[in-house]
Amino acid sequence: MCRLLFCLLALITLGETVKAQDIHSYANPSAVRVRHLDLDWNVLFDQKILKGTAVLTVERISETAPLVLDTRDLKIEKVETSAGGANYAPATFTIGASDKILGAPLTIPLPAKANRVRIQYSTSPGATALQWLDPAQTAGKKQPFLFTQSQSIHARSWIPLQDSPAVRVTYTARVHTPRQLIAVMAAEDLSGDARDGDYQFKMDQPIPSYLIALAVGDLRFKSLGPRTGVYAEPHTIDLAARELSDTEKMVMATESVYGPYRWGRYDILVLPPSFPYGGMENPRLTFATPTILAGDKSLVSLVAHELAHSWSGNLVTNATWSDFWLNEGFTTYLERRILETVYGRDREEMEAVLGLRDLKEEIDTLDDRDEILHIDLTGRDPDDGSTDIPYEKGALFLRHLEETFGRERFDRFLKGYFDHFAFQSITTAQFVDYLNKNLLGENPKLARKVPVAEWIAKPGLPENAPQPSSAAFTRVAEQATQWLQGKTPADKIPAANWTTQEWLHFLRYVQDHITPAGNKPIETPGSRPALPSARMDQLDKAFHLTRSGNSEIAFQWLLMSIRNRYEPAYPRLEEFLMTIGRRKFIKPLYEELAKTPEGKARAIEIYRRARPTYHPIAVASVDVVLNWPGN
Ligand code: BES
Ligand code: ZN
Repeated sequence: MCRLLFCLLALITLGETVKAQDIHSYANPSAVRVRHLDLDWNVLFDQKILKGTAVLTVERISETAPLVLDTRDLKIEKVETSAGGANYAPATFTIGASDKILGAPLTIPLPAKANRVRIQYSTSPGATALQWLDPAQTAGKKQPFLFTQSQSIHARSWIPLQDSPAVRVTYTARVHTPRQLIAVMAAEDLSGDARDGDYQFKMDQPIPSYLIALAVGDLRFKSLGPRTGVYAEPHTIDLAARELSDTEKMVMATESVYGPYRWGRYDILVLPPSFPYGGMENPRLTFATPTILAGDKSLVSLVAHELAHSWSGNLVTNATWSDFWLNEGFTTYLERRILETVYGRDREEMEAVLGLRDLKEEIDTLDDRDEILHIDLTGRDPDDGSTDIPYEKGALFLRHLEETFGRERFDRFLKGYFDHFAFQSITTAQFVDYLNKNLLGENPKLARKVPVAEWIAKPGLPENAPQPSSAAFTRVAEQATQWLQGKTPADKIPAANWTTQEWLHFLRYVQDHITPAGNKPIETPGSRPALPSARMDQLDKAFHLTRSGNSEIAFQWLLMSIRNRYEPAYPRLEEFLMTIGRRKFIKPLYEELAKTPEGKARAIEIYRRARPTYHPIAVASVDVVLNWPGN
């Protein structure tokens, strides 16, 4: 059995070291490789388009091969080529058939010696990477806002390029905006302080296309430390600066274990609430949802996570989206190490337990093939591979290595790994090869305790996977049990000093342990027992959960409220869905609603109004849940 798995892994290794084919890109980087971009755009809010030019500098490995680029819904107006000088000659180009997931290839035959290609183009209003917000969707309500989200394969909807994480480019950009707005990019800002509608940037370090990012809006900046700061709308900037004041400490904590931060500045951009993700690790400028601003720093694990990507992801990048766990599993592991350094071991343990619980719950619902770290995404959108498997199973695998080889040895290994592969994009096979040579090989006795092939190529979790535990959570669970059994009334639960993580554990524990004995459960779809509304009401009266301003607690409570049909929370549910566009929150809430006919009707009624305010990426997910526009 195990031998077969090793065989399988050896095959992956062989195949991949020869050539890792990125099935999510039309590009041919082994024949013609884009090395640098010079971008210039006008940001046209009235038409919801970017209009401008992209000049691509290419390396010609094959003398005859054409340049093949990825595009999605781009309007290509003109293509020209040059042999390096300022003289451009008109070029022919063809745009192939458009695939729903991949978009369309743009093929440009290259004359001898040509190494520059200038493309004049504009985006379409439906570009999947762009969200154009009306003033009403911003905190200030007066100015429009634009932001991009390129990961996984959305960069091609705003820039014609080789949209594969295996292709790294440097770039410069010039952005023309309405005068009252400012532009920021995940790059070095060369614009100075003038708000003159003309902004310039450069990124000298080679990065994959999914990390190219731009935002335009009425933004302010506040410094957080010598090389850290935050951008947000004027209305949000003070709250954001207070909440994120530990950022510099986090950078130092990460550096102390994994080596210097290599990107110069680390700033955070707090976006309007329709940002579809919690955070996005755009280099030098993390993009973040405002839903992390809880007022008590309890949700800043997100900053630890996005910052960690400056090593695991941005420095060493997955070569294809099947290797995504190399980005997210490593980052989730690093995130917890940062939290431990800055906030202590208790906090790390709580986060690890919450993560494992999510993972196990998801494993119960996923197909076997999707529980594999090195996932097969044939015919699928890589965004669909973004489950807890790459994040939590990946992190648990690294924890297993750490626990087996000892922290000191494993830290040294990881630091060496980041140095060795710095500014490269690598495959799972390359990682396994490096692991064998630099850790496992030196101690076969310890190595036998970590079933690497099983971790990477088998569904579920190995039998001897680590079991994180938290003493604080054990106490919370005891309280939850007491309450469930009717032994402690809600207002006597000693929750005054509970952290957000303890609250999340309490709510999940209660939901998982509703027992017929204490609670006279009512029947819900799937015959899951539910808490009667009167019991939900006791918790709500004691702790004001429906009104919680903490997005994670509110989300957990609203999910529970749908499951238990706790009607007093429904207006808040509607408000939540109407104002927040973070996919991690809205998708599960719509899914839970859709489990009953009444719930689904309510979901559709809310979605009809909320949909125009959501990001195209969130819309794509919720459309599937609600079978839209079939409904
Ligand atoms: N890189 C991801 C976001 C992402 C993943 C965007 C896949 C597009 C496709 C980012 O680092 C991330 O993992 N964000 C998480 C937050 C984190 C604390 C787990 C999120 O947005 O929920
Ligand atoms: Zn991440």
